[in-house]
Amino acid sequence: MYTKLWLDYYTEENGISVSGNALEQSGSIVDNAILELRHCKYLKDLNVILNLSEDSDLGDEGYRITGAGKDYTIEAHKEQGLIYGVFRFIALYRLSADKTVDVREIPASRLRMLNHWDNMDGSIERGYSGNSFFFVNNDIVIDERTRDYARILCSLGYNGVVINNVNVKAEACNLINEKFLGKVNELAKLFASYGVKLFLSLNYAAPVEDRTVNSADPLDPKVISWWEKKFDEVYAKVPELGGFLVKADSEGRPGPFTYGRNQAEGANMLAGAISKHGGIIIWRCFVYNCQQDWRDLKTDRARSAYDYFHNLDGEFADNVILQIKNGPMDFQVREPVTPLFGKMPKTNQMIEFQIAQEYTGQQRHVCYLIPWFKEVLSFETYAKGEKPDGSTVKDVVTGQTFGYKYSGMCAVTNTGNDENWTGHDLAAANLYGFGRLSFNPELTAEEIAEEWIKLTFGDDDLVLSNIRKILMMSWPAYEKYNAPLGIGWMVNPNYHYGPNPDGYEYDRWGTYHKATAKTIGLERNSDGTGYSTLYNEPWASLYEKPETTPEELLLFFHKMPYDYKLKTGETIIQHIYDTHFEGAEDVEVMASLWRELEGRIDTSALERVNARFEHQLSHSKEWRDVINSYFYRKTLIEDEKGRELY
Ligand code: GCU
Repeated sequence: MYTKLWLDYYTEENGISVSGNALEQSGSIVDNAILELRHCKYLKDLNVILNLSEDSDLGDEGYRITGAGKDYTIEAHKEQGLIYGVFRFIALYRLSADKTVDVREIPASRLRMLNHWDNMDGSIERGYSGNSFFFVNNDIVIDERTRDYARILCSLGYNGVVINNVNVKAEACNLINEKFLGKVNELAKLFASYGVKLFLSLNYAAPVEDRTVNSADPLDPKVISWWEKKFDEVYAKVPELGGFLVKADSEGRPGPFTYGRNQAEGANMLAGAISKHGGIIIWRCFVYNCQQDWRDLKTDRARSAYDYFHNLDGEFADNVILQIKNGPMDFQVREPVTPLFGKMPKTNQMIEFQIAQEYTGQQRHVCYLIPWFKEVLSFETYAKGEKPDGSTVKDVVTGQTFGYKYSGMCAVTNTGNDENWTGHDLAAANLYGFGRLSFNPELTAEEIAEEWIKLTFGDDDLVLSNIRKILMMSWPAYEKYNAPLGIGWMVNPNYHYGPNPDGYEYDRWGTYHKATAKTIGLERNSDGTGYSTLYNEPWASLYEKPETTPEELLLFFHKMPYDYKLKTGETIIQHIYDTHFEGAEDVEVMASLWRELEGRIDTSALERVNARFEHQLSHSKEWRDVINSYFYRKTLIEDEKGRELY
């Protein structure tokens, strides 16, 4: 069995009467909407009207919910909006003290997606909550859990899901072949009945693997016609498919570079072949040289997405969307915002976050990521000049800044087949939070946390205030005991868990901190790799010098002596010691806040999280001591406060 998270509310009969013109539609979406209403134990004897209205201002996905007491109306222009409205009504009814509801909501971004990195053998790349619930033993599974997952996505307004890993290998290559198209279609239909489009990750070299055309050259007519036929075959069987996600020329995956073609030529070939089916190609910008020689002082991985894509602005087909990671490296606990945002006015863009906690504690540590995502989204790109004017990352990826045809947000998901879906019970706040945020990026991290806590754990005041504190402390705490001041990567190679300051230092992945006895960091300003110059002004000038670089990113941008004084008056080395002690202490606070909830929440959840905190308590000390001792041994500078260093 598994928990049903915030949707754990089914009951036999609740006496709800449902009427309205939407019932004439009798499509599967409306049926599912009615099912939720009639079987939600929190609703009793209400009259709910479901109307499909002429109000096209609501778009395909918007809704209006009004009512009080016993009578409510949920109105939408399309069935998709209607079912989002029904789930939102249930949440709002539960959250509202006086049971009055009056909202009109339209999602801010066109695409609101989750990316699964699930493999067909059942494993999950960077999965920390069990195995895949989509795939077992190289086959597709469709069961009660799949339906609940579609409900979960719909309840938050997600409208797309990519079910397989971006690294498409082995049996996953067959997902676009006869063998699996029947089941892919079944899945696509199930998700579509909750307003969610199914997408697949694609192997760029599929025509080579197929052995019929010995090439994947995007300009080769044989390759083009291979893809046209392939998409005809796929869409004949899976008409609801949204399209494909492609990781090309990255970390060993094939791509257009093999044939001397650029990223636009690669993406456009697929986009052309799929366009008559209305499909889209989501093309990732995570392209970099992962065979770098650590002695090479010129190459800077942080530049690579920009260098490969920026000059291609305007060359991508309009059914291509570039999917760009929030930071230029790879989901570290702190990174600057990728400079490509706000720099490609003529190319659809969407942002990729990661709620799978690969580098943020792997769902063994609590780390509520929404405050971090909010910071990223509110970053001003100055795309329209130095006076801010609708050009934050949020404005760019919701399509407002440049009027993109497609844009949006996605996150690498944190779900698996664990009883609680996300390994750590508190990690479900990221699944919930990212969905809400992509629907309405104006919400604050606290608002989202509160909703999630109440819908998951009920109304108890102490439960609300303690869990809210834990969530809001968690990302800052994790950052404190991790690699300092934006430098990142002091982690064990491959599995990316636990401290290892030099783990990646002499490796091929382009992630170096270059700590010596005197300095740490590498120069990324105009005297260094030039990375800082990729930003619009005033960022380019601000990042140029240490004094004007935001301090949380100081070591990302600059090579600094340990005795450099931060704005607090502390030296860098003392800051490192202090934050690491503090971070571990914060975990003690969070663990005791959680323990206070005994008797107030479900015992199994209580114990599961207690056990995770036990681990986090010792593991945060491990981080603290390894990082502090590393710097102590390098610098031989004592902690001013005389605490123990090893
Ligand atoms: C990271 C991660 C990989 C993943 C890659 C990607 O490097 O460690 O497992 O495949 O990101 O985003 O493609």
